[in-house]
Amino acid sequence: MKFENLLKPVKIGSVKIKNRISMAPCNVHFSDGRGYPTDADTCYYAARAKGGIGLTIVGAVMANREDAEAASLVIPRLDDVSHVGPFQEIVESIHEWDSVAFIQLVPGLGRQSRLPRAPVMVPSIVPMEKPGELEIKQLKAVSTRFLPMIRGAGYGNLKEMTIADIARLVENYGKSTLLALYAGFDGIEIHAPHGYLVHQFLSPRTNKRTDRYGGPIENRMRFLMELIDVTRATVEDRCAVGVRIAANEHMPGGMTVEDVGIITKECVKRGVDYIHLSDGCMEARKYFFPEEESDHLLDEAKQIRQGLGVPLITPSVHDPAHGDAAIAAGKTDMISLGRQLMADPDWANKVMEGRVGDINRCRRDATCLMWLFTEGRVRCAYNPNLGRERFMPEYWPQKIDAKLPPSLMKKGK
Ligand SMILES: Cc1cc2nc3c(=O)[nH]c(=O)nc-3n(C[C@H](O)[C@H](O)[C@H](O)COP(=O)(O)O)c2cc1C
Repeated sequence: MKFENLLKPVKIGSVKIKNRISMAPCNVHFSDGRGYPTDADTCYYAARAKGGIGLTIVGAVMANREDAEAASLVIPRLDDVSHVGPFQEIVESIHEWDSVAFIQLVPGLGRQSRLPRAPVMVPSIVPMEKPGELEIKQLKAVSTRFLPMIRGAGYGNLKEMTIADIARLVENYGKSTLLALYAGFDGIEIHAPHGYLVHQFLSPRTNKRTDRYGGPIENRMRFLMELIDVTRATVEDRCAVGVRIAANEHMPGGMTVEDVGIITKECVKRGVDYIHLSDGCMEARKYFFPEEESDHLLDEAKQIRQGLGVPLITPSVHDPAHGDAAIAAGKTDMISLGRQLMADPDWANKVMEGRVGDINRCRRDATCLMWLFTEGRVRCAYNPNLGRERFMPEYWPQKIDAKLPPSLMKKGK
């Protein structure tokens, strides 16, 4: 079989996944202003699940009300029982197409909250670097809508977290993971990448604390370990638990790939079932959103995968032959697709059916990012249907039965 590595089943914890292709979590701004997912979200995820991916990871969902409100980003939330129903609909639609449903839960955004309406919580008061000249040129070339960002608006208004703040965020995170379980998710992905709050704790560049959450690496990773502990204690073995983390911060004085090797192994010791890599941060955006297909991140992935003991997922491999070879070479266990699945929800089916030439390729330009960073609904220059799947009957619920999802059918201990 062609692409046999990519199309082989895999297990994350006790969750069986039909192939090695997953959707990278992407916040697409389809939720309503109060953080409730909408039918636009449900049909958007249904389209990707119908397109053949084994694992669908629902993009950034805020676990903490106060951080979500301070950040003023257009982002879904899961901090109240009333949020459960709309997420349940998303899970049902993903399951309907025989894909597994994970959710990425975000403890906080910290200093990368773009236009905060209240002080945002950070480990230490360290302002963002101003964008470099090249970045400003790129941003201006895309749209004047980036101007406030170029001027650095919003990246201020920071509040150093107290020990009580940390404890409250961890407690709230636990409550949110329970709601994710109620909604029927098969897995929870703890959001720790890209320079957001957890990453700010992990990095010596942004964590200048002198208490037990700062200093040596074991202290800097304490917040993440507490999030893992509260998640595991809440969901037990009813669903998979993973961590998403940047393989490398790519900033002077920041977290290195060696640091990430240590942190990810500690995550596994604490009981996580998988690691999902990404790269860079807002100040190193060319790694966060690579502009070309390369082996750069896959080589770092190989290093981190050594002795890891759980499946590793690596993003941004849009070429199926490249993904298949990377799995065969032991660089990664699975791949995840972000922008490429926006451009073509049927990528996985086309790979399975040997129709690779029909794939609507992502050109890795900045259209989706432009909408993301200016808080609009995300659009794709190459797929006019992105965000409009709710008007397409093929993505409406077809045959939903009322069976409880696997995570809720397990008997308690
Ligand atoms: C519009 C958009 C939204 C994104 N939102 C998230 C997110 O919510 N959580 C996350 O971890 N990464 C997010 N990402 C990053 C992607 O998951 C992925 O790592 C990145 O786009 C590189 O992969 P790609 O080349 O396949 O797009 C987002 C990317 C895009 C383009």
